[in-house]
Amino acid sequence: MEALVRDINESIVDLVVVSGDLTQRAFGHQFRAARRMLEAFDAPTLVVPGNHDVFPWWRLGSRLFDPLRRYKRLITADLAPRLELGGPEAEVRPETSSDKIQPAAHVVVQGINSAFGWTIQGGRITKKELSQIREGFSDVPKGVFRVLVVHHHLAELELLGDHDLSKGAHDAFRTAHEMEVDLILSGHLHISHVAHVSIHEGAKPIIVATSGTSTSSRGRGGEPAANYFNRIVIMSDQILIEERKYDLISETFQKNHELYFTR
Ligand SMILES: [Fe+2]
Repeated sequence: MEALVRDINESIVDLVVVSGDLTQRAFGHQFRAARRMLEAFDAPTLVVPGNHDVFPWWRLGSRLFDPLRRYKRLITADLAPRLELGGPEAEVRPETSSDKIQPAAHVVVQGINSAFGWTIQGGRITKKELSQIREGFSDVPKGVFRVLVVHHHLAELELLGDHDLSKGAHDAFRTAHEMEVDLILSGHLHISHVAHVSIHEGAKPIIVATSGTSTSSRGRGGEPAANYFNRIVIMSDQILIEERKYDLISETFQKNHELYFTR
């Protein structure tokens, strides 16, 4: 966690997106530890919960009636956070010397909740979240980069084979397509993976970036303890997604892989 916070705070960052699971069992001390991490970032944060953030099965009453009560009390009561970055009024920042990147593109980020008490782990999108996607992007002018954040997956990622897909995923992905979402950020699978996904042949693809687990020791995909996060740079003509991986020897996160997409 320290290496993660240090690595992110060392760059110029507009926003830290945490796509959930913040805890393992939704215990108070786990939420408080997550909160300390969120407060340690210099940049603002946008957070959505995951299935591990609902009360565990042995707290059945709470799990069914107010599954995210602790998350709402200790992290944020806003289950559909929205943030606008850059835009005409934004301050122009100097180029970063290392990679000649011109940041400060106009970006709207909308988060939705996919974690519910009565699902075991796969997640669920209801009509409420569909309307939050619509509202989040409805008044956004053309050309503004649109990012949707959701813990569970909304589309099948071919190279990952069989994986969890949220209930209502197809409706949510179609709504994202209709609202011209450019990028979907997800978590859940503990596998670092980026793909271009189209709703149908010929439709404009959406970039789906699944972050590997950043702090948990439960890595998957043949890497039991690998930690990752994505550094995303949105420029006027292209998007860079840089995968950063924790290196056990130097105890720092380092660039592992990078992908450029044209806008
Ligand atoms: Fe999860």
